[in-house]
Amino acid sequence: MTRQAIVAANWKMNGNLSLVKEMVSGLKQVTLASNVNVVVCPSFPYLAAFSAESAEQSLSATICLGAQNMSEQQSGAFTGEVSSEMLTEVSAKYVILGHSERRTLYKESSTLVASKVTKALEAGLIPILCIGESEEERISDQTETVLASQIQPVIDAIGIEKFSGVVIAYEPVWAIGTGKTASPEMAQETHAFIRQYLANESQKIAQKVPLLYGGSVNRGNFEQLFAQTDIDGGLIGGASLNVDEFSVICSAA
Ligand code: G3H
Repeated sequence: MTRQAIVAANWKMNGNLSLVKEMVSGLKQVTLASNVNVVVCPSFPYLAAFSAESAEQSLSATICLGAQNMSEQQSGAFTGEVSSEMLTEVSAKYVILGHSERRTLYKESSTLVASKVTKALEAGLIPILCIGESEEERISDQTETVLASQIQPVIDAIGIEKFSGVVIAYEPVWAIGTGKTASPEMAQETHAFIRQYLANESQKIAQKVPLLYGGSVNRGNFEQLFAQTDIDGGLIGGASLNVDEFSVICSAA
């Protein structure tokens, strides 16, 4: 079966209005393969600008907007938080949830992440659920236990059937922003474990869920990574801030 392939840009706390315009112009020149969607996730203040610029330049509908986080709450006195409905109102289609920086720096638990996934689905957003192990966890052979502990609360919260509307991004924490990418073989082995974990609940759903790899993906290594059987694209940080590099990755994905 041909799964949806996705190349997602996570700008993190980088970028500005100029980059929004440059990225839309750059992506306008890119021809995507028919099964590829591109998702650009700028910081909250630039979501509406990206959306307006995309409309202005008539960007293809296969190049979508995503947010980097959202609240598990509906609305109310939650200073500094952003709700799922606010995201849909500015035309976001995807939302990154449970990124390792949220889990480690902002102490987001897997239970909280599961609540956010539930909320995102209710609003019609596609969650990009991030999971991944630390270097210590990999060295001590805990990778599969850690990944299972990050996936299971989401299965418990939404049920396996609703995973057909979820994307998973596997990002080994030790590979994020370090230049140390997992080898294609190591990444494939871990993606195969994730797919099998889902298959234990439902083979049909497991075959549908796009599994992205993230962690120091760049123009020099993406082709080998994306060629792996269970890797359906990437979640790209640093390299997504460079319009030329990101465009090359999108057009060859
Ligand atoms: O969300 C993106 C990842 O954290 C990867 O970041 O490509 O800069 O290593 P990176």
